[in-house]
Amino acid sequence: MEYVIGVDLGTSAVKVLLVNQQGQVEAECSKEYPLYHDRTGYSEQDPDDWVKKTEAALQELVEQTGIRPATIKGLSFSGQMHGLVLVNEKGQPLRRAILWNDTRTTEECQDIEAAVGLDTFLAITKNRALEGFTLPKLLWVKKHEPDIYQQAHGFLLPKDYVRYQLTGDFAMEYSDAAGTLLLDIANQAWSTEIADKVGVDIQLCPPLVESQACVGTIMPEVSERTGLGPETRVFAGGADNACGAIGAGVLSEGKTMCSAGTSGVVLSYEAAGNLDFGGKVHYFNHAKSDAFYNMGVTLAAGYSLDWFRKTFAEDTSFSELFQKIAEVPVGSRGLLFTPYIVGERTPHADADIRGAFIGADASHMKWDFARAVVEGITFSLNESMNILKNSGKKITSVVSIGGGAKSNEWLQIQADIFNAPIVKLENEQGPGMGAAMIAAVGSDWFASLQDCADAFIKTEKVIEPREEHVSTYETLFAVYQDVYDQTKGLTHALKQFRG
Ligand code: XUL
Repeated sequence: MEYVIGVDLGTSAVKVLLVNQQGQVEAECSKEYPLYHDRTGYSEQDPDDWVKKTEAALQELVEQTGIRPATIKGLSFSGQMHGLVLVNEKGQPLRRAILWNDTRTTEECQDIEAAVGLDTFLAITKNRALEGFTLPKLLWVKKHEPDIYQQAHGFLLPKDYVRYQLTGDFAMEYSDAAGTLLLDIANQAWSTEIADKVGVDIQLCPPLVESQACVGTIMPEVSERTGLGPETRVFAGGADNACGAIGAGVLSEGKTMCSAGTSGVVLSYEAAGNLDFGGKVHYFNHAKSDAFYNMGVTLAAGYSLDWFRKTFAEDTSFSELFQKIAEVPVGSRGLLFTPYIVGERTPHADADIRGAFIGADASHMKWDFARAVVEGITFSLNESMNILKNSGKKITSVVSIGGGAKSNEWLQIQADIFNAPIVKLENEQGPGMGAAMIAAVGSDWFASLQDCADAFIKTEKVIEPREEHVSTYETLFAVYQDVYDQTKGLTHALKQFRG
């Protein structure tokens, strides 16, 4: 038997999966690392924590299974997107990485669109300049930490940095490069026009590689530390959303995925790279060659639920929480929640908006609030779903992955709010499986990602929407959509107190 490894470098932890030729996960290991929020809106991690924890997870995986390292043929990566890892000429990080959910760069976003001109910017990058993306972070460091910026030799994205530390190959792959705002999406090349207009040296941009490219093998010292064979081939990998899409079989037109992890996304496959969505949804290169996807992002999806549980129900596990939620009627007895606890991206690109519970009543109990949180996250994802539908995307069913797919109650809420059948996969593993599939195709087990998906991905069940709940949710969704405008001024005015 041969194996491949998928490494998913997430925001709270790295998870490594050992996958066999039938697509079964033979072993997995996960290691957490800290997230630093030094000020409101700031979100950083130490790149070397990622490397140490990835190596530790790999070491444990190899040791735990006791398999011969030579049978592990390939390894690939999925990673949290957009995070800026600025390195010196020795490839060492110059500061902590600034992450995708860091929103300090509103001014830089405005500067970028003003310098390039919105129409030109959209034509090249297909996206609006949003705080989470990489270019505004680069400009923030240039402005606020000029000494650090001066020493910069280049920048990488999170999983590209870890891959560099494991293989010595300094490169960035397309699906993640798409989220920097420096890539010409349709032509798959760095945009000198954008770099020149915003004042960034294009030499800082690393060489580009295909997601499925073999970039090298494990370095001898890493092999010693992890137990992986030095002949293990490493494939570039993809952005976590692109890999999530691969792992969910979103590899052809008409396929849609909903992923509720720390962030939440609604993502739809896109064959053409030259359409115009006016920046209303993100438009990125897929980790499948010459393909694309559109997606809307809820910044705090699983993060909102995690926040609620930690803050108000610390002793309740997620499965108990969902048992309680299942006992609360649809609509949470007239309580609505907006999941804007770290600002929002789609459809309201607003770093300063904050969340709200609307309609609190003396009769409400803790679990009404919990259900309102889950419904609010799903309403937010439905806003992205609606943008995709209104741009002509046909959404006949949705594959659900991530935390949102782990609870039957949440799956039903998705079916009822999206008014679409929801597909739950057998033994769903999220982006890590997409990364393993890239390694499986690279290791010549399959001729294409689609062939691999046909062999690896199986549907466990399909959850149909319940008509009476669909109409209740339609009414509530209309109220939900009003909450952003009604709370914008109020929550912006509270910004000064957030510290
Ligand atoms: C996508 C985004 C998030 C991160 C989470 O644009 O910022 O989904 O990729 O890891």
